[in-house]
Amino acid sequence: MNAIQPPASGRKRLHVITWGCQMNVYDSGRMTDVLAPIGYAPVAEPEGADMVILNTCHIRDKAAEKVFSELGRLRRMKEASGNRMILAVAGCVAQAEGAEILARAPYVDIVLGPQTYHRLPEMVAQASRAAGAVIETEFPAEDKFDFLPESATPQGPTAFLTIQEGCDKFCSFCVVPYTRGAEASRSVAAILREARHLAGQGTREITLLGQNVNAWHGEAPDGSTWGLGRLLRELADVPGLARLRYATSHPRDMDNDLIAAHRDVPALMPFLHLPVQSGSDRILAAMNRKHTAADYRRIIDRLRDARPELALSSDFIVGHPGETEADHEATMALVRDIGFAQAYSFKYSPRPGTPAAGLPIQMAEDIKDRRLQALQALLREQQARFGAGCVGMDMPVLFTGAGRHPGQIVGRSPYLQPVHLSGAADLVGTESIVRIVASHPNSLAGTLVQERQIA
Ligand code: 5AD
Ligand code: SF4
Repeated sequence: MNAIQPPASGRKRLHVITWGCQMNVYDSGRMTDVLAPIGYAPVAEPEGADMVILNTCHIRDKAAEKVFSELGRLRRMKEASGNRMILAVAGCVAQAEGAEILARAPYVDIVLGPQTYHRLPEMVAQASRAAGAVIETEFPAEDKFDFLPESATPQGPTAFLTIQEGCDKFCSFCVVPYTRGAEASRSVAAILREARHLAGQGTREITLLGQNVNAWHGEAPDGSTWGLGRLLRELADVPGLARLRYATSHPRDMDNDLIAAHRDVPALMPFLHLPVQSGSDRILAAMNRKHTAADYRRIIDRLRDARPELALSSDFIVGHPGETEADHEATMALVRDIGFAQAYSFKYSPRPGTPAAGLPIQMAEDIKDRRLQALQALLREQQARFGAGCVGMDMPVLFTGAGRHPGQIVGRSPYLQPVHLSGAADLVGTESIVRIVASHPNSLAGTLVQERQIA
């Protein structure tokens, strides 16, 4: 019997474990979509699943060790299933360490890199024939997006849409150029098709994704080349779409038209994640970021001129090899000067094969700890100040789901803060004005000002 046919008794159970970035969340959705036609339906728990996919992240920390420890847990479940469970490892650890995974965890059936998700059904068929483990970590010539089906399951009021993948920037610390490959953009037609499909299913807010999303450029229907600013203008006209965001950007790719789009496109939310990593020019040069702290400040000034209510988020790394106390102070000064609504900060973590990992002056762990604590205290204070500043404001909130308590719903502010309020469940999927009455460390509380829906 061909194992990829759905059993007569019903559908097969698929459980996907997702670690890492928003792109992995999107990819897990697409892997689920591509397996649906061969009979797999998602389930919430790995116990009793016919197939489990572990979608991994390699960006920081002990990525591989974490994978092996999770695989140990899944191995016990696989054994409990009489070894019928198909175990797949996907994502960036699979890409970087595929052979090592099969050597150390021979009970894994499939190892696949991010560029081969469209081939999953074939791999499942192969694995089911018990012909040994299947490994697909090449960068194939074909574009996986040409082969991935549109999602049959509505994504809900908010959704991700990958428009670009890979990175050519080669920051000293980063594995992404090695795990996700060279920069590649999807075409305007494919993006518009997917956006219209999502809007047709009830999605109101789309976050465009890419490792270097503002490096996106695509061929337009008239043969010309568009940048992200132009694409955003086009997407704003898609019926049903009320909100647009994009992540993650590189300061060097903030071109004039994209900055102008922040002024001209009301659907583009006034919140931007623009990682700077460090406030020290010496460290920015060592990181191969190809911009200075002053360049970053200038871009922020121009963005704020274009959209005065714009709030900012960033990523920071402390303890890059060779970072002095003065370099760290320069980062603290940049944070104080710019003021972030929210930010992510990490201790530098050497990634095998990246240039920074081979540098002689690696920083001691206690220095990294101390600098991270100082930076996070400042960022927490800024986030709290930003939240407190929202209290008393009336802001559009897109309702995304039920709240924790009966009669409560939760929504999303323009600045990506969760907003909790009393409201009927049928408001989910609509956007209304909410008065913010309180701020908490990671959320806001509000009351409905007008039942009238904005969208
Ligand atoms: N160590 C610490 N943080 C890292 N990041 C990327 N690589 C590393 C590393 N080796 C952070 C950067 C990036 C974010 C996604 O993860 O800040 O913007
Ligand atoms: Fe990594 Fe730098 Fe590329 Fe971002 S721009 S993905 S940090 S190499």
